[in-house]
Amino acid sequence: MVPLKKTVRDIELSEQKILVRVDFNVPFSPGTLEIANTNRISASIPTLQYLLDKGASVIICSHLGRPNGREVEGLSLKPIWDKLNQMLGLHSQFCPSLDFSEISAVAKKLNVGDVLLLENLRFHKGEESNDLKFSQNLAKLADVYVNDAFGAAHRNHASVQGITNYIPSVAGLLLEKEILSLQSVLTAPKRPFTAVLGGAKVSDKINVVRNLMTVADNILIGGGMAATFLAAESVFVGDSKVEESFIDSARQLMKESRALDCEIVLPTDAVVSKSFGPNSSNRICDVSDIQKGEMLLDVGPSTSILFKDVLSATASALWNGPMGVYEWPQYLKGTKTVAESLSREDITSVIGGGSTVDAVSSLGLEARMDHVSTGGGASLEFLEGRDLPGIMSLMDV
Ligand code: 3PG
Repeated sequence: MVPLKKTVRDIELSEQKILVRVDFNVPFSPGTLEIANTNRISASIPTLQYLLDKGASVIICSHLGRPNGREVEGLSLKPIWDKLNQMLGLHSQFCPSLDFSEISAVAKKLNVGDVLLLENLRFHKGEESNDLKFSQNLAKLADVYVNDAFGAAHRNHASVQGITNYIPSVAGLLLEKEILSLQSVLTAPKRPFTAVLGGAKVSDKINVVRNLMTVADNILIGGGMAATFLAAESVFVGDSKVEESFIDSARQLMKESRALDCEIVLPTDAVVSKSFGPNSSNRICDVSDIQKGEMLLDVGPSTSILFKDVLSATASALWNGPMGVYEWPQYLKGTKTVAESLSREDITSVIGGGSTVDAVSSLGLEARMDHVSTGGGASLEFLEGRDLPGIMSLMDV
């Protein structure tokens, strides 16, 4: 359980300079500077607007990609600046340099209602190494620090954790909403509560399964990770990617889940193919009939019905990870079934993870979910029950 943290509502903001850490790590359409999904930018607007309405001046900082402490042209925050101005309906300033004497000269001149966006913090080595001087320099820019970057809250970086040692530090509205939504499913879910987990790798989710089975009534497992769970049940999965080193843990978890009264439900049939491609020929078979050379690329129709039935008797659900290779229409059906089941009015649905959110938004169902997390790795670590430095380091209530 995350201790209660102070938020922007608990601190004086009028005529204060506020440094806000957001997560503007957005995807771009390949080979262009066109933002492919603006969710993370729009999700930051309520906090930014709140600060402006309270009479603050605002300095925004974020990372983008993994430039490893070097300036990388395609990873500048400049293209995001335009989008931010549009969404805020104002003209903010952009500081293209991470030289602190230049930034502070601009920051000092900010008046109430002014907004300044800093360049990608990861262009500087001090960000990821959580360098003391870099953290202090960031802190010197403002009176108050606001963390609204849930997506980066699992990183022990200067703008996420280091800075909180030097300046009053509180949560933004997005961070608060993420904590409350994810925490409510972990601690007091409406029952029956079902977790749906998928995606390619079991190694990413094994600790999530371990933590969720202590609270969930059912865990439905699909996607590539189902192959390792099926292998743990001695099912032959052909050429599907099995993570051998996780077979024992998967078997152990299935055993433990029974003692905890949590039912782990695996696919009973699958869409399999001998080649990995959007137009590959495929067939539907029982999981016990998967042949050598075949790969599991989606859950099958009987599994979709089974998952739909469990979800129709569910009051709240948490979903992370697609059921198949959803990017290709012939392997989308399992993912679509789960997305549609979770868009019912009478189910509280919390979804997270980049691919899940991408699949749900391409199906046009995003607005039907109760909470769409902006966190990828951060939401997984939260669901594993781990303490995230970006949350823990903020001031307690
Ligand atoms: C994300 O996209 O999950 C966050 O922005 C964190 O990015 P990172 O994995 O590069 O730290």
